[in-house]
Amino acid sequence: MNVSECLQKGEAYLIERGVPEPKANAEFLMAEMLAVGRLTAVTQGTRALTAKETHQFLDWIKWRGKRIPLAYIIGHQPFLGINIRVTRDSLVPRPETEELVIECERLVKLSKAAAPKILEIGTGTGCIAIALAQLLPSATIFATDLSKSALDLAQKNAITHHVGNRIRFVREDLFSDKQGLRGWADLMVSNPPYIPTKELDDLEPEVLKEPRMALDGGKDGLDAVRAITLMAPKLLKPGGILGMEIGSKQGPAVAKLFAAAGLQGVSVKKDAQGLERFAFGSLPA
Ligand SMILES: C[S@@+](CC[C@H](N)C(=O)[O-])C[C@H]1O[C@@H](n2cnc3c(N)ncnc32)[C@H](O)[C@@H]1O
Repeated sequence: MNVSECLQKGEAYLIERGVPEPKANAEFLMAEMLAVGRLTAVTQGTRALTAKETHQFLDWIKWRGKRIPLAYIIGHQPFLGINIRVTRDSLVPRPETEELVIECERLVKLSKAAAPKILEIGTGTGCIAIALAQLLPSATIFATDLSKSALDLAQKNAITHHVGNRIRFVREDLFSDKQGLRGWADLMVSNPPYIPTKELDDLEPEVLKEPRMALDGGKDGLDAVRAITLMAPKLLKPGGILGMEIGSKQGPAVAKLFAAAGLQGVSVKKDAQGLERFAFGSLPA
């Protein structure tokens, strides 16, 4: 078969299995298999594929048909212009999280902290910590997660992107007391698990393949948000910033939690889709 025939076969199979964006998915898988960009792959329609290549591509199509996330099949996901390695041990980085990072960068620059200290909670692939390390070259970052396999992956990603020496990855439960970091951080940032437990089963099949620990925010979805917010006044420097990604219906509740913790200038911001997705506040200076 040639590229074009394989793509048609792959797309038809994905349509049959109800996979969203079947054409794009088939093209991404073909591009990965040929180790070229998506555009290059689709312009090579008449290129003949070897039996091994055809087999590989159709195997991947079958996995995608089982609603395994594309990023888990190809093993990486773009995040703010860098390629983040992804495994089933970690959440797949989302485009809205890129927006969280950009706003955090802006706020840290505005604060004029000379050598900013950043604490990220629940680092997963390390995408937030790594992007911030690149955007803020004088920053020192402490990134935690409870999942050892996620931390190993994050460490590898940081080394690949040349910021391994500026990020300390530590296995730590976010519900534990971080005594050693009192008054340390100019910025605390997190994309915590924030989905209410009872809503988990209604998620897209792809999301259900991601680690439950990365998603489950407890009964009202706010267990981790509450814990992080409560510890923020202890861990932030005066004037330090807390930035968090939240569920699109959680804005008012999270704003209340931020204010109750003594944070000021509390704001809930919308993402590019117009959904209330981020909460920010700062400790009085
Ligand atoms: C929504 S994911 C975010 C991952 C990554 N920061 C991102 O934005 O793509 C939440 C992360 O919190 C971690 N996590 C869940 N419960 C935790 C806990 N009790 N203590 C520390 N980390 C936890 C998960 O392992 C997961 O990596």
